[in-house]
Amino acid sequence: MASTPSLFFGLMALSFSLALAIDHNALQDFCVADPQSQVRVNGLGCKDPKLVEANDFFFSGLHLVGNTSNAVGSRVTPVAVSQLPGLNTLGISLGRVDFAPWGINPPHTHPRATEIITVINGTLEVGFVTSNPENRHITKVLQKGDVFVFPVGLVHYQRNVGYGNAAAIVALSSQNPGVITIANSVFGAMPDIAGDVLVKAFQLDKNIVTNLQAKF
Ligand SMILES: *[C@@H]1O[C@H](CO)[C@@H](O)[C@H](O)[C@H]1NC(C)=O
Ligand SMILES: *[C@@H]1O[C@H](CO)[C@@H](O)[C@H](O)[C@H]1NC(C)=O
Repeated sequence: MASTPSLFFGLMALSFSLALAIDHNALQDFCVADPQSQVRVNGLGCKDPKLVEANDFFFSGLHLVGNTSNAVGSRVTPVAVSQLPGLNTLGISLGRVDFAPWGINPPHTHPRATEIITVINGTLEVGFVTSNPENRHITKVLQKGDVFVFPVGLVHYQRNVGYGNAAAIVALSSQNPGVITIANSVFGAMPDIAGDVLVKAFQLDKNIVTNLQAKF
């Protein structure tokens, strides 16, 4: 049986090597995503560097106001590796979020990224919730020019609490941060999560669960 100190150092070594396996340094200047590549790596295969051009590192359109005519009154315009192939392997991305008056960006999480937000127009209430058992809700109202951070993995949201439209620019610490919108993944799973599971999990009436499952 391992003694406590050697177990401790063993775990240290293990977590260190895991960290290296995930967060390695690039061994090349860039790896522009090649959507045609059949190579499956942790990210996308690289385009031949000789064929890379300026447009691979370019995106245009973040000045445009997103269409917020939808049920939640907000629109995210992502600039991640799908929109900008030069981001592949670089661990960073950007986005714009527009809000109609009282529009919300519903509670969601990015499994692979911390997010930093700055308001460029209007007033936003923002918040995130810490993990169990505290589930502490940390929230603040932001004005134009204010900056706030949502730590990786935590459920967060924004709401336009001003009178006009609002807009924000977000940056994320992954070229492919992923989005898990809580309502969609819980009530909109395909195929459905059994209603009974959700009835118990959320302590809801069966009809309400059926209703929510039809909506998402
Ligand atoms: C905005 O989205 C709505 C709903 O999808 C659509 O009816 C409308 O034409 C869109 N407006 C613009 C300017 O694209
Ligand atoms: C800022 O919001 C106002 C309305 O509140 C709108 O008229 C203006 O176009 C917005 N500006 C930008 C840059 O989105």
